[in-house]
Amino acid sequence: MAPEREPVGVIGTGYVGLVSAAGFAELGNEVWCVDIDEEKIERLRGGEVPIYEPGLEELLARNARRMHFSTDLGEALEHARLLFVAVGTPPTYSGDADLSAVHAVVDAIPASEEHALVMKSTVPCGTGAAIRRGFGERGKDGLCYVSCPEFLKEGSAVNDFLHPDRVVVGDEGDWAGDAVVELYAPLDAPLVRTDIASAEMVKLASNAFLATKISFINEIANVCEETGADVVEVARGMGLDDRIGAKFLQAGIGFGGSCFPKDVDALKQLAGNSGYHFQLLTAVIEVNELQKRRVIGKLQKHLGSLVGKRIALLGLAFKPNTDDMREASSLVLSARLNADGALVSAYDPVAEEQARSLVTGITFASSPLQALRGADAAVLVTEWGEFLALDWSDVAEAMAGNLVIDGRNALDAEAVRAAGLVYEGIGRR
Ligand SMILES: NC(=O)c1ccc[n+]([C@@H]2O[C@H](COP(=O)([O-])OP(=O)(O)OC[C@H]3O[C@@H](n4cnc5c(N)ncnc54)[C@H](O)[C@@H]3O)[C@@H](O)[C@H]2O)c1
Repeated sequence: MAPEREPVGVIGTGYVGLVSAAGFAELGNEVWCVDIDEEKIERLRGGEVPIYEPGLEELLARNARRMHFSTDLGEALEHARLLFVAVGTPPTYSGDADLSAVHAVVDAIPASEEHALVMKSTVPCGTGAAIRRGFGERGKDGLCYVSCPEFLKEGSAVNDFLHPDRVVVGDEGDWAGDAVVELYAPLDAPLVRTDIASAEMVKLASNAFLATKISFINEIANVCEETGADVVEVARGMGLDDRIGAKFLQAGIGFGGSCFPKDVDALKQLAGNSGYHFQLLTAVIEVNELQKRRVIGKLQKHLGSLVGKRIALLGLAFKPNTDDMREASSLVLSARLNADGALVSAYDPVAEEQARSLVTGITFASSPLQALRGADAAVLVTEWGEFLALDWSDVAEAMAGNLVIDGRNALDAEAVRAAGLVYEGIGRR
């Protein structure tokens, strides 16, 4: 008989919590999920998946008998020793991480000798130490604490959870750290077992490094535009150097999403709060903000004033294969286009519902061609496969103008030009 797997509690059933919960269930663990959002819990109980994430629906359906959903933390406490915390840590106005949801969970956990809080939410370095101190002050010394940051990517989250590049466990060498290591053992991933502060910093530093790579190649792209080089060729030549690597060298209109912008900001603020000015990250953030606006200049170069011009946005989500609109480049772009008097239509295969609550002044289309009909220019904002497969002669026929701006350098420039359209990428000849 297979050894019995540890039951786990997962607090917060968003992108990270729900995928992790389903992943643990797939490994054979009984999983007790808790969320304060009653509607979400009702939907999950009814077998509905409240977010778009490829493969998640099937994973949840396959493991439904091992998954339990509740708004009552008591149920998770009753059945599981390990309580994974996967609540949101959005940015505050100061750029620091808002830890109010984390603290709400921490405060709700009663004194116990048998439970451990396992932090999956991305938190500033030092949070674990502060929580441990708080436990001590409130007579909750018996509670253990483990930092277990999550590295999954929306759009491939299920695969990332089940096949991680590494598992990072930061703990104080007690039973809880051992139990978390044991939980992940079947995934056979490289393990980094370390102290809590270092585990917290691995997560922040990893996201900051990836964001730096993106801003770096975006600046190279901008210089390519001035010097006649093609950033796609440059990135190919750079990426073959295995000290550099080809990933995250795609120039475009900037990074967005629920993690990079806030985690880069949070690390910069964390450093600042400790008296260190993180100059490099300050530049990474500024480059990204300017990059999101670069499309406007390109449109003006070809169209002159944008007043009354019809602009079609292909894609709204911050990247393909997700409906997540948090910090998406499309938010800045559509707001700038509105401010400049353009008439904006947009199509996204899955993010429309989320976009409707965040974007005003644009018309939502039900297909790419509907968005493109009568447009003076098209802008590829999110490189969904659907857009890469467009028939460009159909596009040319639908549009009033002929300008295609490839904000992700993802389109086949030759195919676009062959249809009689004007192609302009980011940093491309
Ligand atoms: N989304 C990602 O790709 C990703 C990847 C790695 C790490 N992270 C980190 O993981 C954390 C969660 O991110 P997410 O994208 O899953 O967030 P999310 O907003 O999708 O989900 C958070 C969930 O927590 C619930 N919640 C809030 N307060 C609660 C409470 N007191 N008790 C129970 N539930 C509560 C919310 O209702 C929501 O369902 C963040 O810190 C994020 O930075 C996210």
